[in-house]
Amino acid sequence: MSSNLDAFWMPFTANRQFKAHPRLLAAAKEMHYTSHDGRQILDGIAGLWCVNAGHCHPKIVEAIQKQVATLDFAPTFQMGHPGVFELAQRLVEMMPGGNFDRVFFTNSGSESVDTALKIAIAYHRVRGEGSRVRLIGRERGYHGVGFGGISVGGIGANRKFFGSLIPGVDHLPHTHNLEHNAFSRGQPPWGAHLADELERIVTLHDASTIAAVIVEPVAGSTGVLIPPVGYLERLRAICDKYGILLIFDEVITGFGRLGTSFATEYFGVTPDLVAVAKGITSGTIPMGAVFTRQGIYDAFMDAAAEGAIELFHGYTYSGHPAACAAALATLDVYEEEGLFAHASHLASYWEDCIHSLRGLPHVIDVRNLGLVGAIELEPLPGKPAVRAMDCLQRCYDKGLLIRTTGDIIALSPPLIVKKDHIEQMFEILSQVLRGLP
Ligand SMILES: Cc1ncc(COP(=O)(O)O)c(C=O)c1O
Repeated sequence: MSSNLDAFWMPFTANRQFKAHPRLLAAAKEMHYTSHDGRQILDGIAGLWCVNAGHCHPKIVEAIQKQVATLDFAPTFQMGHPGVFELAQRLVEMMPGGNFDRVFFTNSGSESVDTALKIAIAYHRVRGEGSRVRLIGRERGYHGVGFGGISVGGIGANRKFFGSLIPGVDHLPHTHNLEHNAFSRGQPPWGAHLADELERIVTLHDASTIAAVIVEPVAGSTGVLIPPVGYLERLRAICDKYGILLIFDEVITGFGRLGTSFATEYFGVTPDLVAVAKGITSGTIPMGAVFTRQGIYDAFMDAAAEGAIELFHGYTYSGHPAACAAALATLDVYEEEGLFAHASHLASYWEDCIHSLRGLPHVIDVRNLGLVGAIELEPLPGKPAVRAMDCLQRCYDKGLLIRTTGDIIALSPPLIVKKDHIEQMFEILSQVLRGLP
């Protein structure tokens, strides 16, 4: 290991603190990382919400190795390769009800979000509704770090350093409310009415100016905010009423996190565009994608002359052969090992275990859905986020990787997780919580 950690400017990291006390991961297998000092670390967060099939799955590793040795790169601008078409077809077949018929490939969640926003605005334009340019996000939303994503996103620190962002964006209120919903199991009962704020925004700007609303069905990075019962349904109904496109950012919820292929299936709410990434390749090779509902692609085809490019958008690595091979193998693993059904089956056990932390010191809320959960801690007076970061370090020292955001601990293990891993996870967490100052 190089002893000089200076040159790497680490993303979303307290660089000086990390470099003084580095946490380096050297290898991984199934549910565990191996730290550089040779310790086994149970992965409670699937890497960064992405390694849904477990680490270094031999089938995925082999598929990538084979692909890179056969066709390292092929452009998808006016060219193609078989894997990308096969993958797109497999993906649309995974979507419930045959509602989505096209897939656009990207390399990350941020690119998927920006792609979805651009398609939404362009879709209205090609249909002759070019005045629909406004975008509606939500407070506390996380949609990656592109200018589109931070503009519709609702996390102050991710926005305030970066100028005026893109114009014409409004935000719905977030749905987090401890007074009404603390310690809810699954979807909280209170808060569906918060979707009605969309009506207010429509009244203010007029529907003819609004292109799309984007939300995470379950907000992940902001600290796991579960949608209130009926909330997503209401958003869908209001969007329908005014011809506004609804975008689900399923970068975390896609590929089994809730025990179904996608959250759209879990909630029975069908958006118009779905942004995904992360679990599409189980985190092995960067890839993202945007699903479009029937009719969207057709509108672009109808508007452009035969032989003309219909959408002026794409990335050099859209549908990269190695990413496609990784995704195809990942989808095989999900299917062959029944991982989404396994996640669904474990969800109630997970719920019981996570809620067993209620009553421990500093715990002011526990929430869960599928195989995702969060424990919210009372912040140390005048020192936000310090208590949770302390908890992260102590868990890591005891062999558990968690994620924190502010004073919220987030958990989302690989979907291969077993009951004994879950027990171990909550045993370590409860020991740590009891010992926290
Ligand atoms: C909901 C959501 N959207 C977008 C992103 C951004 O993805 P990426 O980091 O791959 O750009 C994330 C990342 O955590 C996410 O959780």
